[in-house]
Amino acid sequence: MERIVVLDFGGQYCHLIARRIRELGVYSEVLPSDTGASELGSQDGLKGVVLSGGAASVYDENSPAYSPDVLEAGVPVLGICYGHQLIAHLLGGKVEAGKAGEYGLTDMKVRAGKGILKGFKGRTQVWMNHRDIVTRLPKDFKVLASTKHSPVAAYASDKRRIYGVQFHPEVTHTARGMKVLENFVKACKAKRDWSMEDFIHSAVLEAKVMVAGRKAVIGLSGGVDSSTAAALLSRAIGKNLTAVYVDTGLMRYKETEFMERTFSDRGMDFRIIMASDRFFEALKGVAEPERKRKIIGALFVDIFEEEAEKVGAEVLVQGTIYSDRIESGVTKHSDTIKSHHNVGGLKENMKLEVYEPLRDLYKDEVREVARRLKLPDEIITRHVFPGPGLGIRILGEVTPEKADICRRAGYIIEEELKKAGIYGRYWMGFAVLLPLRSVGIQGDSRTYKYPVVVRIIESKDAMTANFSKVPYEVLEAISSRITNEIMEVNRVVYDITNKPPATMEWE
Ligand code: XMP
Repeated sequence: MERIVVLDFGGQYCHLIARRIRELGVYSEVLPSDTGASELGSQDGLKGVVLSGGAASVYDENSPAYSPDVLEAGVPVLGICYGHQLIAHLLGGKVEAGKAGEYGLTDMKVRAGKGILKGFKGRTQVWMNHRDIVTRLPKDFKVLASTKHSPVAAYASDKRRIYGVQFHPEVTHTARGMKVLENFVKACKAKRDWSMEDFIHSAVLEAKVMVAGRKAVIGLSGGVDSSTAAALLSRAIGKNLTAVYVDTGLMRYKETEFMERTFSDRGMDFRIIMASDRFFEALKGVAEPERKRKIIGALFVDIFEEEAEKVGAEVLVQGTIYSDRIESGVTKHSDTIKSHHNVGGLKENMKLEVYEPLRDLYKDEVREVARRLKLPDEIITRHVFPGPGLGIRILGEVTPEKADICRRAGYIIEEELKKAGIYGRYWMGFAVLLPLRSVGIQGDSRTYKYPVVVRIIESKDAMTANFSKVPYEVLEAISSRITNEIMEVNRVVYDITNKPPATMEWE
């Protein structure tokens, strides 16, 4: 398969580069920064290499390792940010610490609208995030653009088919970033005929090889990720897949009925495990968020292991997607933000081999795969729901009573968004139950009850999010219904914080 490889120098947007190239119809994957030319698979459809951005300076002792022969792989190379500096440094140019950093939207002057800047002229807005700058270019290289701070904001060596941009073409803030990547794809002469159908095809092949005649179990949560992973695996290994839905007592309202309706006749061995007592027992007296996550994660795995033993499965399939992995600190350079149970919370001595077929996809790519696998619309368009479920939406200790309040409030929020015809706009709409009480007046009596937080957010990739500016009438309908229908609640507040600085969930 024709492909463009992105080498990971630790930049926050490294995977986004690969995703953008896939959007342009060329398969792209991310490999470690020190992958050498011989391992890139030049015989095997390699059409180009991108060196990603990263936080280091080319002069740092601990800068990410690289294999200089990637520049000799015989295909066009594009350096982005750190990659741009590294290429200049390796080929005899000069990189220096800038007098000041250059961060955010920046005006760039195009000096030569050709190569990767073909079709550009005059000025254009680009997104910068760096301090070091290239001050002298290697032989045969030409400046294509500059900014006030970066004399060499883009360069090219037509002879060597090597290009560099100091800015980030992959982020949407760069006005014509996709055009830059498209120009690179053209320079690579890559055929632009890759689609999610090809992903499905190769994922099915990969799963067959991975599972290799054994049996596998998957935890189905009802979310789009695990449902899609299950549908893929079921296509690959049919009845050798056992899909386990665990009713933890921390699921959405009427979720178990929904799951039964949706998965009973999809050609896999589908099992519902009622385990709420076990979860509430294990969570008794525990208030610390990360401990709750770990307890829930470990219990899930215990149950999967029990079911695996029953059917003789050796592989545990998980619907982990790229954003889960980055937030759990799977790349060498990213900070661990929280341990998502489906990656960070697995036990060390686990008997099952973990397989994550969706590991490199973004959420909307997963939805596209789900659509092609003909999963029901309700699953495809569903809001995201975290693995630990209501366990991380009930602040402090989790009890069955609190779970019930939080679940019903969440259901009202989703229902009112659907009624207003705006459900599909949001990443998630959910309720958070606070571990405190406030005074209210209901009927003629003074009350002292729980407040519920309504959180409705918009996000494209889970890394950043904005609270949504939902019409007041919808918020009012949500608030009235929650206080009317849920006896234990007398106050509803709306969370108006973006991510960052907050996270989407409250724990
Ligand atoms: P945060 O709160 O980190 O959430 O901004 C980003 C996305 O991840 C989901 N999330 C989780 N998913 N296990 C999961 O499977 C977890 O522990 C977990 N914590 C957060 C969250 O719902 C949001 O969609």
